Amino acid sequence: MCIRHLGFVLLLWFPAELHGQSEVWSCTAPVLDHGLFTPKQDIYPHGAKLTYTCNNGHKPADQGWWARSACNNGLWSPPPQCINESNCVQPDVNPNTRYSPSPTGWYTNGRKIQIRCDKGYETKNNVLSATCINGDWTSMPICEKRTDSCSEPPQLPHAVIINQTHQELFAVDSEVMYQCEDGYTTEQGESMISVVCISGSWTEGPTCKQSDNGLRPVANCGNYPYVPQSTVVSSRMALKYSCPAPYELMGPETVVCNSDGSWSDLPMCKAPGQCVVDPDTHPSGLFVRADLDSRYAIVPEGQMLYFRCTAIASPPFARAVKCRNGILTVARSCCPHHLIVRDICW
Ligand SMILES: *[C@@H]1O[C@H](CO)[C@@H](O)[C@H](O)[C@H]1NC(C)=O
Ligand SMILES: *[C@@H]1O[C@H](CO)[C@@H](O)[C@H](O)[C@H]1NC(C)=O
Repeated sequence: MCIRHLGFVLLLWFPAELHGQSEVWSCTAPVLDHGLFTPKQDIYPHGAKLTYTCNNGHKPADQGWWARSACNNGLWSPPPQCINESNCVQPDVNPNTRYSPSPTGWYTNGRKIQIRCDKGYETKNNVLSATCINGDWTSMPICEKRTDSCSEPPQLPHAVIINQTHQELFAVDSEVMYQCEDGYTTEQGESMISVVCISGSWTEGPTCKQSDNGLRPVANCGNYPYVPQSTVVSSRMALKYSCPAPYELMGPETVVCNSDGSWSDLPMCKAPGQCVVDPDTHPSGLFVRADLDSRYAIVPEGQMLYFRCTAIASPPFARAVKCRNGILTVARSCCPHHLIVRDICW
């Protein structure tokens, strides 16, 4: 059972292995004019290396007087070539420069090549070419950092640079984009902002702040502030007050905890155009409320109501309650009805 299983695996594996080998080609011996190479063979396997030298008056199209080449899938790389000594090999260029290499690997005597400075670099003396003279290159252009180039953009708290690979130098007018960390925004409420390299320095980057404008969670401000008659619901960053009817909320509905630990402005519960007889401020026992169905008794503005006194059982005794300019006044005493109606028992 075990062996049959193994056979199955080998069958599957074999075609892949054959396919892999079929892509690797060996090399035939190179044709090398004006030179010698070793070892000499008819066929060289992929990966085989050879060394060559050139006759007097010639040189390898590579650095030095002896050179190497390797068989890479049927081709010699770099191809062994002996070139006239007055020609040039690929130049050794200075840092931060680039040029288009010759496809043949060498340059004829007198050939001039163009060198470019990398972005953000410039040449001091405006020379951006080199010439092959009798087998040697004239001096190679030097590229230096332009004074209006910028170094890496600054690292900013709670911000990252996006869509930009790392580089040490940025040319003038380069733009990089910062993104604020999740939950943070710039002062303008944006989550992304770009900075530009201008005359050697970056424009100012974003200050990423916590999106809720520096507010702190309500837990940081301590006990929830008391707003008479209100009910409060809290979330992490805000308290939400509401007032039961007949009260109406006046002022801000939400209250937040400022960064200095204080609460923002509080709302109030008001009942415009009427006074409310509230069991919180007028404890039961003082009188029996007129309307037992609701929590509150309402005294309309400018009116007076009579509430039966609870302490004195006999019905004619009552307490007057009046509403003037939104202020509720409750009589101190319980009086017989005929005194109250004459408005002399307070
Ligand atoms: C190399 O080239 C020069 C002129 O380009 C020629 O005079 C000279 O004979 C050549 N040298 C050899 C070894 O072929
Ligand atoms: C960043 O790159 C991605 C993909 O390349 C692209 O979808 C996105 O729009 C780019 N963002 C900015 C701000 O350029």
